[in-house]
Amino acid sequence: MTTTTRTLDPVRIRDDFPILHRQVHGKRLIYLDNTASTQKPRQVINALVQVYEEVYANVHRGIHYLSEAATERYEGARRKVAQFINARSPREVIFVRNTTEGINLVAYAWGMANLRPGDEVLITEMEHHSNIVPWQIICERTGATLRWVPVTPDGYLDLDALERLLTERTRLFAFTAMSNVVGTINPVQELVARAHAVGALVLVDGAQAVPHLPVDVQAWDCDFLAFSGHKMCGPSGIGILYGKRQLLEEMPPFMGGGEMIREVKMTGSRWNEVPHKFEAGTPAIAEAIALGAAVDYLSQLGMEQVAAHERQLVRYAYERLQDIGGLKILGPGPDDRGGVLAFVMESAHPHDIAAILDAEGIAIRAGHHCAQPLHDRYGLVASARASFYIYNTEDEVDALALALHRVNQVFG
Ligand code: ALA
Repeated sequence: MTTTTRTLDPVRIRDDFPILHRQVHGKRLIYLDNTASTQKPRQVINALVQVYEEVYANVHRGIHYLSEAATERYEGARRKVAQFINARSPREVIFVRNTTEGINLVAYAWGMANLRPGDEVLITEMEHHSNIVPWQIICERTGATLRWVPVTPDGYLDLDALERLLTERTRLFAFTAMSNVVGTINPVQELVARAHAVGALVLVDGAQAVPHLPVDVQAWDCDFLAFSGHKMCGPSGIGILYGKRQLLEEMPPFMGGGEMIREVKMTGSRWNEVPHKFEAGTPAIAEAIALGAAVDYLSQLGMEQVAAHERQLVRYAYERLQDIGGLKILGPGPDDRGGVLAFVMESAHPHDIAAILDAEGIAIRAGHHCAQPLHDRYGLVASARASFYIYNTEDEVDALALALHRVNQVFG
């Protein structure tokens, strides 16, 4: 994490995003809630419209021109995603609704078939609820035990504790590549190697990492990776579960229905090949194709450049927020985090901060950000969170800082 060169031009990029030109409460919109959902460039919006206007039909089902055209686009999007994360094959890429569904798929399909009393699933205190609750449910159902890697006061995973927690009983280690609150970028490759050394499989929650950093599943060697389209310029309702092919072949299906079968008899059914075995029912066809357009968009910008731009913005935000009295940023310094800054202020509750900023046209998120255990760890019920993407500028960070000074004036 040493690159400081910024090669993205956020001002030019903003031209691609129609929503960024609107006003909110009579003020120009400053959108700093990108960790929740990013906005969509015209290229993605056009892709959605084009599907419905030109090639929409059901996929993998019809022997007619439109169905074949839609199927080709849908499978083309799968190939683009596979290349984007460097999967060995598009067969390792399953279309799901979002990160949450990807993790639930693994929890139910792999977890129910493989976990037994005495087994352990290891997660961390910095997980989003979507990488906590499915494991709580599956551990309760299977009798396996859920264990937690603690987080240090400055927002890193406690790697000494990890040494003790990873044992031959650990069947799966599930962790986020980047925290959606403290922004910590975890050392994925090292964590995967340590888990594999005790024979555990690894699921990486890539909801925050994949949109913001170059990701290479072969370099990471993770067994599963889940991420969402709506956080990376794509539509909502479409996400990805990557899994190593052999594991996917061995896993039973998650849901039953059309398309996931090879043959259905009254006496029983046989499953389709992967990835179709895990895509029961009509999928989000236009959304998957538009996710392919989002992948094209990000690939053209270059993920190294995306990461460098956000690093630069976070460093700048750190400087600008320094002199705001009573403001405390949670988590590590600017060099070890992605473009997300959660903070608390002595003068105001996070919801009041968000309300004051909203009146200025500045969108941030306030609350526990679906990470209550992490907030408990810090003795907080909520925090305010500003998060950046490719179209944010230093000028917008200045506006954020000014509005936070105003919060102190109002409540201080
Ligand atoms: N996971 C999203 C967030 O952190 C919704 O805001």
